[in-house]
Amino acid sequence: MTYDRPSDTRRVSVLVTRRLPGDAVRRLEQTVAVDLWEGDDAIPRSELLARVHGVAAIVSTINERVDTEVLDAAGPALRVVSNVAVGYDNIDIAACNDRGIVVGHTPGVLTETTAELTIALIFATSRRLLEAADAARSGAWTSWGPTWMCGHDLKGATLGLVGFGAIGQAVARRAHALEMHVIHHDPARESMSLDELLEIADVVSLHCPLTPATRALIGAPQLARMKRSAILINTARGPLVDQDALVSALRSGEIWAAGLDVTMVEPIPVDDPLLELSNCIVLPHIGSASVATRAAMASLAIDNAVAALGGHRPRHAVNTDAVQPGPGPA
Ligand code: GLV
Repeated sequence: MTYDRPSDTRRVSVLVTRRLPGDAVRRLEQTVAVDLWEGDDAIPRSELLARVHGVAAIVSTINERVDTEVLDAAGPALRVVSNVAVGYDNIDIAACNDRGIVVGHTPGVLTETTAELTIALIFATSRRLLEAADAARSGAWTSWGPTWMCGHDLKGATLGLVGFGAIGQAVARRAHALEMHVIHHDPARESMSLDELLEIADVVSLHCPLTPATRALIGAPQLARMKRSAILINTARGPLVDQDALVSALRSGEIWAAGLDVTMVEPIPVDDPLLELSNCIVLPHIGSASVATRAAMASLAIDNAVAALGGHRPRHAVNTDAVQPGPGPA
């Protein structure tokens, strides 16, 4: 893909908040001045606020909260915030709309990879893979036991997808291959109610964005509706689940297990009670973490930023209707 050069490249600078895989940043450097945070960890807030001053674009990750403080620190030159993620709950979209700032994101390229991790968590929780591997390592495996380490079959089980967008549908395709029965709840589509799904499903898997309407979507009343043998999977966003209620439900056996790639606070504090539960698997937000997918996300995020800087509508923008950046697809 080639782009128009932004009209005055000498003045255009872009903050990239993390080293990215592939040649995406090198491509960007050919057209604008790039300030790349080279740290091994996420950019500290103070650095973000200092470095953002005067930039025309921020290429952000989910680690950065792009709120009014950051937008104010950037100033009027800022035209686009391009998130290296499909989710964009780390960005204050309304504030970007008010300022005419385009927000880009990376849907599509991570769909199948995230669906694969969801299936991995379904297998791992239903067949107790981490517990079993720990037993083999620790010496707790003393003999083959007819009732020891038994889990639940997937064939014939019902998978309830909460959110039936691209990732939910990709999980459904895989679940059909496992001969699971798939149901879904999605307010944007004709579907069953959440309460009904929770009562029927053997595995409940969350695939909806985090919005004010979905925050704590799964709380104590919802967990109480689930079967005692049910599994909750979350590869979407941690705050969709009331984590205290989940700890109680897992402890008391109200539900059977949980597999989480995302948590309320990330990274999860090492003393979090979830980490003490043998029926809970917690992963460090690796849903899209394949080599190829992360490179594709980086490339798409840079494409989105460059398109917006060139006055074009990015391939994937959250809010182009609100901000009307330019003449159409780059
Ligand atoms: C990761 O969580 C993403 O939204 O891409």
